[in-house]
Amino acid sequence: MNKKALKLSVPLIAIAAVAYLIFSPSKYVGYSPDQPIPFNHKIHAGDNKVDCRYCHTGVETGAHATVPNTSTCMNCHSMVATEKPDIKFLIETYQKKQPLEWVKVHDLPDHVQFNHSRHIQRGVDCSQCHGNVAEMVKVKQVASLNMGYCVNCHRENNAPTDCSTCHR
Ligand code: HEC
Ligand code: HEC
Ligand code: HEC
Ligand code: HEC
Ligand code: HEC
Repeated sequence: MNKKALKLSVPLIAIAAVAYLIFSPSKYVGYSPDQPIPFNHKIHAGDNKVDCRYCHTGVETGAHATVPNTSTCMNCHSMVATEKPDIKFLIETYQKKQPLEWVKVHDLPDHVQFNHSRHIQRGVDCSQCHGNVAEMVKVKQVASLNMGYCVNCHRENNAPTDCSTCHR
């Protein structure tokens, strides 16, 4: 490659790399891992209209929405559907004090900081980032959650976009 072509191509490669980072489709859209018990949001949050916050207790006050302990399940399942094999298993783990190891669906890289309460306080609905979970038999990731996705919405809503907002 001659010098002139090299001079031209270096900035082009840099631009392409940045564009790739910003617009690359996340490899996680559609990710929907199996769970230790097939937990059905449609039955709970949809048909039985249990509020998201009943189980995801941290979502309004903290960075993490949190996933409930088995004791929360037992508020109902010490009585409800106790004959079903999955509930028998649930009760068994509860009695043995074995926590269920729920597999993370959404997981940002460690260098990104995210905060649920900041979004909920500004009236951003769960469905904007998670889709209509109340209709999901099995949770799956629907939004890319890549940098472009976050930054675009911040721009549209006059939320901060400087790097330190999301990167430590
Ligand atoms: C009865 C309890 C319960 C209710 C009500 C509930 N969830 Fe969940 N949720 C869970 C459990 C348990 C998990 C972990 C298992 C799984 O991922 O399916 C979970 C997982 C999730 C996840 C994926 C977490 C991850 O690992 O990334 C999201 C997103 C979510 N819930 C959103 C919601 C929304 C939105 C609502 C209300 C429409 C809601 N949930 C209502 C119990 C509940
Ligand atoms: C507010 C009450 C309530 C809570 C809390 C609750 N459930 Fe349920 N769950 C129900 C009801 C109601 C049903 C439907 C029962 C039926 O159809 O007979 C159900 C059904 C189920 C089923 C059977 C689903 C199927 O396909 O038939 C499973 C498994 C289950 N729940 C797991 C859980 C787990 C795990 C938790 C805790 C993270 C939990 N539930 C918390 C009320 C609750
Ligand atoms: C602005 C986007 C956005 C909104 C709005 C949002 N979430 Fe999340 N949620 C995320 C991201 C991003 C993660 C992954 C966080 C991580 O890996 O650090 C996540 C993770 C979760 C998890 C996994 C546990 C945790 O806290 O990391 C649950 C459960 C969850 N969200 C539930 C909810 C519920 C319920 C609502 C509405 C009350 C909601 N989310 C609103 C983006 C959002
Ligand atoms: C649906 C629009 C929307 C999406 C998508 C979104 N945000 Fe936000 N974000 C907001 C709004 C609105 C605020 C509130 C700003 C405020 O409190 O004034 C906010 C605030 C924040 C804050 C707190 C900023 C502060 O003031 O210190 C962080 C951190 C953050 N967002 C990170 C993220 C990350 C990371 C993602 C992507 C995974 C994301 N956001 C996706 C709209 C969004
Ligand atoms: C609103 C939140 C937000 C803001 C503001 C933001 N980023 Fe990011 N950034 C993210 C998210 C989320 C990811 C992870 C994307 C993914 O996993 O696909 C990311 C990833 C990155 C990466 C890629 C690292 C890797 O894992 O490959 C770099 C580099 C980066 N950001 C730099 C910056 C710089 C420089 C700025 C300021 C101009 C900035 N970011 C502003 C949310 C943000």
